[in-house]
Amino acid sequence: MATATTEVDGDITNPAFYADEDPHPLFARLRNERPVFQREDPSGLVHWVLTKHADQSFVYRRPDIFSTQYGVTFDTYRGATPDPAAGAMLEFSAPRHHKELRKEFNKSYNRRAIKVLEPTVRKYAQEKVARAASLGSFDFAREIADPVTSAVVFGLLGFPSSDWDLLFDLSRRSQEETHPSIPGRCPFDTSAAEANHELVKYLMRLLNPRRDDLQDGHVKVLSGLLFDGEPLSQREVILNTLNIMQGGNSTTRHAASGGVLALIQHPDEAARLTSRSHFPLLVEEVVRWTSPAIHFMRRATRDVTVRDARIRKGDAVSVWPIAGNRDEEVFTDPYRFDALRSPNKHIGFIAGPHLCLGINVARLELRVLFEEVLRGLPGLRLNGPVTRVASNFIAGIDHLPVTVS
Ligand code: HEM
Repeated sequence: MATATTEVDGDITNPAFYADEDPHPLFARLRNERPVFQREDPSGLVHWVLTKHADQSFVYRRPDIFSTQYGVTFDTYRGATPDPAAGAMLEFSAPRHHKELRKEFNKSYNRRAIKVLEPTVRKYAQEKVARAASLGSFDFAREIADPVTSAVVFGLLGFPSSDWDLLFDLSRRSQEETHPSIPGRCPFDTSAAEANHELVKYLMRLLNPRRDDLQDGHVKVLSGLLFDGEPLSQREVILNTLNIMQGGNSTTRHAASGGVLALIQHPDEAARLTSRSHFPLLVEEVVRWTSPAIHFMRRATRDVTVRDARIRKGDAVSVWPIAGNRDEEVFTDPYRFDALRSPNKHIGFIAGPHLCLGINVARLELRVLFEEVLRGLPGLRLNGPVTRVASNFIAGIDHLPVTVS
């Protein structure tokens, strides 16, 4: 049986590792030498590490065995204590409750419901691309990826546009780049908890029935949703709004920047995009290639065997889409950025009941953004060092300096 080790697992949970190094050689070694093993982290948390695509797919499809209720990231995992949002927030709900809640949410997030956003997304993208083109040299992350993707999510939720900059700032602070354990690496002077607190206060004010600037959007839908004949409580509305906001903000913008970087670095692949029908394939390859979510945590609800490993009830389990998306057993030539890869069974949005709720939003945003960038910014090239986010959860690009011909 695989036991606790530090022989081959290296810096797997060290946030700086993802900012400073290419993590893929480590994950290739883990997939090949120890696809399932138990590890004691320097923080003291003992967890199973699963890197193979097939094993992760099993975990994602069985939330009854691998629970999301105890926290889904390494830093927020709570051991035997359920997360305070368990049972209220979609992602942290137990299977039966999750299924019912998800059925309601899907009504606003299915492909048809999201398709109507296309003209709005295109307008945001065209405006930002035109502005950036006039600048000549700019930071793609700040000028295009961040504002376009956050505007889509905030608009979808119904936040007043005058608050979008503030909300983006708080959302970014509350989630990812803040790793206080790395001196000098945290770009913010407030903690993630403080930013989260600010976000909750903002939402409480917005949901105050005396205010009338909450526009039509998903927050209003959530507020009016009847569940088992009862409306969701204010706490449930707030938690689920945060879930959608964080799920949407911390991922798509990094996929957008990572995708543009890949196109710059692989001009032959960019040249293959000769038809509009190619762009949906590009989007899937970008999500596989960038894998914006590095890992997720689960807790075993009963004894279960994965390969030769006997996972016990109560054990912590970490799954690594970043590794599954380069699995040689699933992808031909996995280290090649293949803009038209097909089939592409990536797990960037995972699979099973917790499959990304915003998958249609993300696909739409990324497709429109890449179409507009390739049309409006010809000859895009790098113009300085790329800075990556120091996080073991979000694989992202903080700064992408570029210039246009
Ligand atoms: C490229 C962009 C995106 C990626 C790679 C991504 C990835 C993921 C992944 C891997 C999960 C599973 C989490 C888990 O199992 O614990 C997830 C769930 C979720 N995502 Fe996304 N996401 C993206 C965009 C979005 C957008 C745009 C939204 C909202 C508009 C969104 C909202 C959510 C929500 C609410 C969940 C929880 C679903 C549930 O538990 O049923 N995501 N996402």
